[in-house]
Amino acid sequence: MCGIFAYLNYNVSRERRYILEVLFNGLRRLEYRGYDSSGIALDADRTASPSDAPYAGAPPLVYRQEGKIENLVRSVYSEVDEKDVNLDAAFNVHAGIAHTRWATHGVPAPRNSHPQSSGAGDEFLVVQNGIITNYEVLKETLTRHGFTFESDTDTEVIPKLAKFVFDKSHDEEGVVTFSQVVMEVMRQLEGAYALIFKSPHYPNELIACKRGSTLILGVNELSGQQNGKAFHDVKALTTNGKPKELFFSSDLCAIVEHTKNYLALEDNEIVHIKDGSVSILKFDPHKEKPASVQRALSVLEMEVEQIKKGNYDHFMQKEIHEQPHSLTTTMRGRLKDGEVLLGGLKEHLKTIRRCRRVVFIGCGTSYNAALAARPFVEELTGIPVTMEVASDLLDRQGPIYREDTAVFVSQSGETADTLLALDYALENGALCVGITNTVGSTLSRKTHCGVHINAGCEIGVASTKAYTSQIVAMAMMALAIGSDQISTHARRNAIISGLTSLPSFVSEVLKLDAEMKELASSLIDSESLLVFGRGYNYATALEGALKVKEVALMHSEGMLAGEMKHGPLALVDENLPIIVIATRDACFSKQQSVIQQLLSRRGRLIVMCSKGDASDVCSNGSCRFIEVPGVADCLQPVINIIPLQLLAYHLTVLRGFNVDQPRNLAKSVTTQ
Ligand code: F6R
Repeated sequence: MCGIFAYLNYNVSRERRYILEVLFNGLRRLEYRGYDSSGIALDADRTASPSDAPYAGAPPLVYRQEGKIENLVRSVYSEVDEKDVNLDAAFNVHAGIAHTRWATHGVPAPRNSHPQSSGAGDEFLVVQNGIITNYEVLKETLTRHGFTFESDTDTEVIPKLAKFVFDKSHDEEGVVTFSQVVMEVMRQLEGAYALIFKSPHYPNELIACKRGSTLILGVNELSGQQNGKAFHDVKALTTNGKPKELFFSSDLCAIVEHTKNYLALEDNEIVHIKDGSVSILKFDPHKEKPASVQRALSVLEMEVEQIKKGNYDHFMQKEIHEQPHSLTTTMRGRLKDGEVLLGGLKEHLKTIRRCRRVVFIGCGTSYNAALAARPFVEELTGIPVTMEVASDLLDRQGPIYREDTAVFVSQSGETADTLLALDYALENGALCVGITNTVGSTLSRKTHCGVHINAGCEIGVASTKAYTSQIVAMAMMALAIGSDQISTHARRNAIISGLTSLPSFVSEVLKLDAEMKELASSLIDSESLLVFGRGYNYATALEGALKVKEVALMHSEGMLAGEMKHGPLALVDENLPIIVIATRDACFSKQQSVIQQLLSRRGRLIVMCSKGDASDVCSNGSCRFIEVPGVADCLQPVINIIPLQLLAYHLTVLRGFNVDQPRNLAKSVTTQ
């Protein structure tokens, strides 16, 4: 949900063309977070200073465009051409900012795109990821002070507020620093946000701050040569004036190609870059002066290949096919000699074992992963599990107790509903466990303990590899919690050995790719698709249907097969395609009978069954089959979802829709 990016080169000469490309590439990496409009701001030539400008130098160059990043790129290059902007102009220091938008306030349009401006002369420019909840009040006040607003965004109040603060402080106190301005702006803002400011009053400086939304600082210290390499062992945040490149980004994906040295900002921190030095201030609304803080840089464990499509056409396709690998990394170092080692949970296992219930909380695919985990968590731990969609828990203010273990599942670790539910559970005194893919995310920082699923960066908006890694991480969690139960010893061993061989079965099921493409071509004109599952695979039905509806833009519903007779059966005819999941487990015979009932209503069936079972599930030749390898019953959902992911992928391509950027969706939903 919106991506922000900034680039500052210090003491190293960079041409405008290069700076533009760094900004565009940053946006390309973040485009999955929002793709309805985008914009950038960079400096004009230093010599082009009009005499009436309120600051030294010409106003910044600001470009905003509706649609995909490539629209922006095209329009910038054609405008640059028309207006004779010199792409070869070199800057020894330059601060550029960029934004890709997923609209929350105001339709996608250039005037609603960021950078948002303080008005004529662009004295303050801001890019934002997040939401300002008190923007209406601020807008009213600023309007009374003579400001006029051009956009429908909540963001526009921020640069205008900055100008208001700047003008006022200047009149009263003379010189005011960039951080003093931003500090005062922060004092007025309510909501959750990450912001980057640029101002020609403070040429060559950048300021970023955050409250709620994630913001990363990347530091690439150069060796003193203009083409020097990064020092990969930098640990301390350097505050010297050595040549360097600095980046701000909404996530790590956009900086990994530049540097491995990064810092995830904490809430209420303000980072001020000036003269090649980085200072961090901690904002406290109750204190007049901010405290200065020392932070160390972390070293990023991510490779550039992870954020590239490689030989694949789409990220979703790549991420589906990399599941043997992502599952291996989820389990790496955690299964040893029949034991499960989860460092992030170790200290809390005793408390979890004593809890009154486990409450799983998440949204969308992450909720479905938790639903897939529920049966084996109950079985292996003996603790009752309840399921909560995060927004629904909040709407009902449902009961959460001190004796509960609340498990929050989120790929991004930034989903607003999930984080608000986390705040709610923390207030109610529950032990809060996080299952997330994102190191340094708000979820991983706010929970008491947790498990990183280590699936690697997921860029396709439709979650695929994170889903299977979440299930496996929760299987390991269940095994760790239940490790004190002697009665389940044999079952535990069977699951552990099932986990170990899971990646090779996933490789095997991926061979169904061509078959799923062929199935997709037979379904492209269907208006709807039902998926029936039960037991371990109820979640598979929900998740398979979610994939189809979100990327292939086809109506699809996942249903509990046990509920079929209580309503959905009325929909069945010879046209409506229905996938029935009937792999071998304790529910197999019930699914056989569901199939018979559907066939007797002339249902158009596609049956997912274990290899070799086709004739047992439907012998009259009227069904289509998806035959999958059999694994331990509780791990079967990891296998069964993969043909459905492939089906959704191929359906989308064949129907001509955008796979990685489905209509109206964003990867991390950071607003309620
Ligand atoms: C569907 C999908 C969404 C997310 C949901 C929660 O493919 O990706 O349903 O699962 O928005 O996101 P996270 O897991 O980041 O909390």
